[in-house]
Amino acid sequence: MNIDLAEALKSRFVNGWNLFWLITGPISAVMVFSMMRADLSNAEGVSSMIQLSVRCAVPWLYLAFAASSAQVLFSGPFSLWLLRNRKIMGLCFSAAMGWQLLFIVWLVSVHRDYYVTEVYVLRDVIEGTVGYLFLIAMTLTSFRFGRKLLKPRRWKLLHKSGIYFLWAYAFSVYWWNLFYYPSPVLLDYVYYLGGFSAWGLRAAAWSKKHRQLAKKESPEVSSRPAFVLMGVVFVGFGLIAAGTGLVWREPVEAFLLGHTISQDLELYLPYWPFTPFLPLFIIALGAFLWAKYGMARPAGA
Ligand code: HEM
Repeated sequence: MNIDLAEALKSRFVNGWNLFWLITGPISAVMVFSMMRADLSNAEGVSSMIQLSVRCAVPWLYLAFAASSAQVLFSGPFSLWLLRNRKIMGLCFSAAMGWQLLFIVWLVSVHRDYYVTEVYVLRDVIEGTVGYLFLIAMTLTSFRFGRKLLKPRRWKLLHKSGIYFLWAYAFSVYWWNLFYYPSPVLLDYVYYLGGFSAWGLRAAAWSKKHRQLAKKESPEVSSRPAFVLMGVVFVGFGLIAAGTGLVWREPVEAFLLGHTISQDLELYLPYWPFTPFLPLFIIALGAFLWAKYGMARPAGA
């Protein structure tokens, strides 16, 4: 039996608010069922619910983050469906993070001693609170009444910086789980790779668009092998670095945190000194060199 994917993905059951309930209904059922099984009278039980709720949330964040780029790179019924439902993906992330917020308040209010001694780190609270402020503002402005409060440019700035901040939170948590904490689980690898791939799609789409633009502006452009090679080498090096954090984390961190100013910044500034993102910066530089300088216009063009 042949299923017409394009037609199936146009169905109202898998679009819009139907899709929202199709995703958040089972997530909420899993949360309620797990609450009944967990021992919430102890802090570890509540903390495990925080972990579960985030694990139910992060995939929708990654899908919303990669939606527009997937359409640029792989245009087809699925990427079109994803782009059409990007807002719904964002709201599914928000709904699942609503569960995390419930358990965070539960942990902080009912199991305060555990929170203060086992969880509390000022920088994490700053990152987490800024993350939730972005999430609440993005959620409210996803509805007409909220969107009306912002000029289109401000709306775009809020949603772009907000989704980058939230992606960075999730991506960096899983980077540290793999390259700092002693016993990563399979899901840490899956979510790290997911976060890396979502960002990779954005970088690739950006590069494709810029090369297309340059070709459109002057069709007679020719390739500049030196910059293409440099771009490929940087991207290759960045890819290797993205998988070998265990090797370079300590010496690089010792260098980046060598000065007291940097150590002070690490106490307050979200993500400083950006260790998990260093391989991405190298890949971005490679993509930039390839897209921006990898082609030459003929003299006088
Ligand atoms: C002040 C706000 C926040 C607090 C107090 C908080 C607290 C926590 C706690 C206690 C855990 C550990 C749960 C466990 O492993 O037992 C956790 C895990 C996590 N949180 Fe948050 N969080 C906050 C905000 C956020 C935000 C905004 C995000 C955005 C994406 C986020 C993403 C994560 C992720 C990805 C994990 C790892 C889950 C896993 O192990 O797979 N958190 N959080």
